[in-house]
Amino acid sequence: MSGTSADGIDAALVRISGRPPVLTARLQAFATVPYPRTVREAVLRIAGGGATTAEEISQLNVLLGELFADALLQLCKRNRISPRRVRLIGSHGQTLFHQGAPAQFLNARRLASTLQLGDPSVIAQRTGIATVGDFRLADMAAAGQGAPLVPFVDYLLYRHPRLGRVALNIGGIANVTAIPPAARPEQVLAFDTGPGNMVLDALVRHFSRGRQQFDRDARLASAGSPCPALLEKLLAHPYFKQRPPKTCGREQFGREFTQRILTWGRRHRVACADLLCTAAALTARTILDALRRYVLPRSPIHQLIVSGGGAQNPLLLEMLRAGLQRFRPAATLQTSAQFGIPRDAKEAFSFAILAYETWHGRAANLPSATGAKRPVILGKICLVE
Ligand SMILES: Nc1ncnc2c1ncn2[C@@H]1O[C@H](COP(=O)(O)OP(=O)(O)O)[C@@H](O)[C@H]1O
Ligand SMILES: [Mg+2]
Repeated sequence: MSGTSADGIDAALVRISGRPPVLTARLQAFATVPYPRTVREAVLRIAGGGATTAEEISQLNVLLGELFADALLQLCKRNRISPRRVRLIGSHGQTLFHQGAPAQFLNARRLASTLQLGDPSVIAQRTGIATVGDFRLADMAAAGQGAPLVPFVDYLLYRHPRLGRVALNIGGIANVTAIPPAARPEQVLAFDTGPGNMVLDALVRHFSRGRQQFDRDARLASAGSPCPALLEKLLAHPYFKQRPPKTCGREQFGREFTQRILTWGRRHRVACADLLCTAAALTARTILDALRRYVLPRSPIHQLIVSGGGAQNPLLLEMLRAGLQRFRPAATLQTSAQFGIPRDAKEAFSFAILAYETWHGRAANLPSATGAKRPVILGKICLVE
């Protein structure tokens, strides 16, 4: 898969057996294959609402299919595993657009929609392996938001008889899955909390004139301090007060949102490090607020299990740890690595499991997470001879 950060293709090789609720999944190998620069720029431009053509989208769909297939073949090669031994591919693709809530379209009707590129037929043909793609639309056709889908996997992996656990993934967008002790599926609460790394990355790209894609180990942001007035202003965004289920993306926290920060920074002469630190504080604060407002009333929190690229950001982790300490002193903060899934592999790992469920004809959306009317089988299967 490739997330909203569009940093590259994550490929996970997973050995899966059994069936829910007793499903066994072990990560065998993992790699992130970076996008070529031109591809990343095209994805970010189009996903950011930039001008494009039907031709560009059509070509990009096939190009990404080829790149995703290459990523799988590379992963196999590096680990000396014959692709013939891979039974099934689950490919999330690259999201270019996602609108979870219905809105009026062409004066015809109210619609929600989503578009992931990286065509699964191309992947299946290039690799010779059956491929499941387009996971989100079935859920949306059943009146769900099409996201988040990983909570189904979180539920399988993290459900505990006595502990309340929250899985937190910090990608471009940050999302949480809260699993109360001994939860039934309908008790799982999952939603996007707001920006994860998206605003941070955009600021770094701006200040480095595109030379840096992100603030490695928060070197720049750690040198700054948060700007309280700006932080308050950003926290006033209506998304944060909306009740879950809810999803967000570049549509809310993309270019325009970053532009507001930059404008404010210029007007009040705020240093770049302080703006970055404020963006980090916004991510941490909105995650913690979401836990307090929406999760705690429904579940105790004993463990917060962090994954995603943002889980490699020491400043974010420190802010989260300090905040959690203030309102849940007994709760511990861990990374998914402590559960056998490297931080950066979690999402790709999860889509392998979702594909496995589809292959076996089982529904794998959690209506409590997506808002769908019913459980549905996700995706489209491209078979090979
Ligand atoms: N060492 C690191 N220090 C700080 N941030 C990091 C580090 N490694 C990854 N990241 C952040 O994680 C992002 C990628 O996260 P990822 O989980 O792949 O997001 P997505 O699912 O949106 O693609 C990078 O753009 C960067 O912001
Ligand atoms: Mg990524």
